Amino acid sequence: MPRFSVVVLLTMVAACVAAAADGPFFPSAIDTVTGYPAGAEAYVPAAECGYCHPDQYRQWQGSMHANAFRDPLYRAVWREASQTRGGRFDRLCAGCHTPVGTVTEQVWIRASGEIVIAPRAEEGVTCDFCHTVVRVLLREPGQAPGNAGLLVDPNGPKRGPYADAVSTFHETAFSELHTRSELCGACHNVFHPVGGVEVARTYAEWRASVYARNGIQCQDCHMVPPEVAQQVARSLEKPVLTGVTSTFGTERTPYFEHGFGGANVAMTSFLGLPGSAARARQRLRGAAEVGVDVRGPVRPGEPFDLEVQVRNVAAGHNLPTGMTEFRQMWLHVVATDDAGRTVWETGALAPDGRLSGGTRVFGARAVDVGGRPAWKPWEVARVEEDTSIPARARAVVTYRVVPSGPLEGALEIVATLRYRSFPQFVVDSYLDRPGYRVPVVDMASARLRIPVAGP
Ligand code: HEC
Ligand code: HEC
Ligand code: HEC
Ligand code: HEC
Ligand code: HEC
Repeated sequence: MPRFSVVVLLTMVAACVAAAADGPFFPSAIDTVTGYPAGAEAYVPAAECGYCHPDQYRQWQGSMHANAFRDPLYRAVWREASQTRGGRFDRLCAGCHTPVGTVTEQVWIRASGEIVIAPRAEEGVTCDFCHTVVRVLLREPGQAPGNAGLLVDPNGPKRGPYADAVSTFHETAFSELHTRSELCGACHNVFHPVGGVEVARTYAEWRASVYARNGIQCQDCHMVPPEVAQQVARSLEKPVLTGVTSTFGTERTPYFEHGFGGANVAMTSFLGLPGSAARARQRLRGAAEVGVDVRGPVRPGEPFDLEVQVRNVAAGHNLPTGMTEFRQMWLHVVATDDAGRTVWETGALAPDGRLSGGTRVFGARAVDVGGRPAWKPWEVARVEEDTSIPARARAVVTYRVVPSGPLEGALEIVATLRYRSFPQFVVDSYLDRPGYRVPVVDMASARLRIPVAGP
């Protein structure tokens, strides 16, 4: 009995009584225009689209969208969710990580943990999926989109940003939705299907930002190169790129790229996508600014206050965003004296890749029903605290520094904002590659030299 059977689905629905208006793919909110699963061949493989849209295809291939289901970390965590929760969450996760597999019912997990999927569903978030989305389905009117709440018409025209596009291979239709954040928000807002606890709120964060108020959409930063995105963040003006839309030589302005670059340096490099990893680094490096100040004189043996400011300058949502109960952005601050001796430090990485206790980490601190720390989406019962930094906002962290030993000459203080997509233990528990070190990116840093006052 290899697939989601009707019986399993019904028990699942019964177990989740709180959810109203469940679609046919519950707990995913995704739905088709017919209300029935789509045929196995309904979606065209990306390589076929790539025949006439080679630039879009090449860019997309390096993205986490193309790898959303191949991602070995996703697969391992999904398998665990399935095995510990009797398959109840299988479709929730699959609705975003393989929407084609979900809608065509061509993906399932065997009781043994083996994952079975049709090749065209393994393409993750693919061309034909996005370009046949008709509209966004909301939980309730006025609420933010989420949990893949999208209505799809796989047999319909290819919907896109142009009103006058003509193709012999497919029908086309203008879609305003494709120029707006709501299309993205349907998958970039994750909530628990029972109770509604929000696990990832990228869309909601964007909605509350100055970017949303100025009409700057996700596309304006994530469908352009990193340096253009930084310019967009500074100027609050939409990007204007020109590019070739198909092999028929059609050149258009505006034009958007399909790299969908984000912050995942770790998984892109793990998957052997060095170009995508380099662009993710570049995005992270332009996202924040750090400043450092000392209050009062610094004297040997006496504590003083050290203030570090972190400003979110270029992310169109909080910094960090997404699954921040899992992603790690933290401050490494170190003070050395003129003799080169480290007199104080916080946020250092241990040789085994662990972050030292007391480190200031920015993000959500989530717990399970028993109040224990939790990061797995299906275990999160409550977010106790969220210290991610809203768009264009500033966080100020004050440390009480007690320098160790005698101080010589002057103190040099260096504060660095660092990021990694996931903690090292994740590699050891979920990724079968011993010795792989999760790459750490230095996003921004500041330096201050202060003389040591006499006793
Ligand atoms: C995550 C959803 C998504 C995926 C996956 C996706 N696209 Fe797009 N595509 C868009 C959006 C959104 C736009 C319009 C952006 C705008 O105008 O603001 C677009 C624009 C286009 C355009 C118009 C020209 C351009 O590049 O701006 C073409 C052609 C296109 N996509 C083809 C493809 C092909 C082929 C693939 C697969 C290789 C693909 N798309 C994958 C969302 C997607
Ligand atoms: C035989 C060639 C061919 C194939 C194959 C093809 N397209 Fe197109 N497509 C075109 C042409 C030509 C245009 C018009 C380009 C223009 O006017 O700028 C177009 C336009 C588009 C647009 C823009 C629509 C709009 O109104 O904004 C999208 C989106 C698109 N294609 C997606 C796809 C997807 C997804 C696939 C695969 C399922 C695909 N195409 C396969 C030739 C093709
Ligand atoms: C069908 C669901 C879906 C839609 C629609 C969607 N995404 Fe995604 N997106 C995902 C998933 C799933 C991932 C993560 C895959 C992974 O890491 O395994 C992702 C990853 C990303 C990343 C990379 C994140 C990182 O950590 O580097 C960016 C950037 C992104 N999406 C932007 C967009 C934008 C912009 C749009 C709208 C044009 C969009 N997405 C629409 C599901 C979706
Ligand atoms: C003003 C530019 C801008 C806009 C608008 C914007 N982003 Fe981002 N985004 C960034 C930057 C810079 C980063 C890298 C720093 C970070 O992780 O926040 C990023 C990172 C991300 C990541 C990776 C997070 C991680 O740590 O894995 C995702 C996913 C993402 N954005 C999705 C979106 C979505 C969805 C929207 C629209 C609702 C959006 N972004 C709007 C600039 C922008
Ligand atoms: C509403 C859409 C959505 C749902 C539902 C969803 N995810 Fe995701 N997932 C994403 C997006 C978008 C990202 C990447 C951006 C982020 O949040 O950092 C992601 C990232 C991940 C990652 C990190 C991958 C990496 O390489 O860093 C894992 C693991 C993951 N999801 C597992 C799951 C599991 C297991 C479930 C079901 C319990 C699930 N997801 C449900 C959209 C979704």
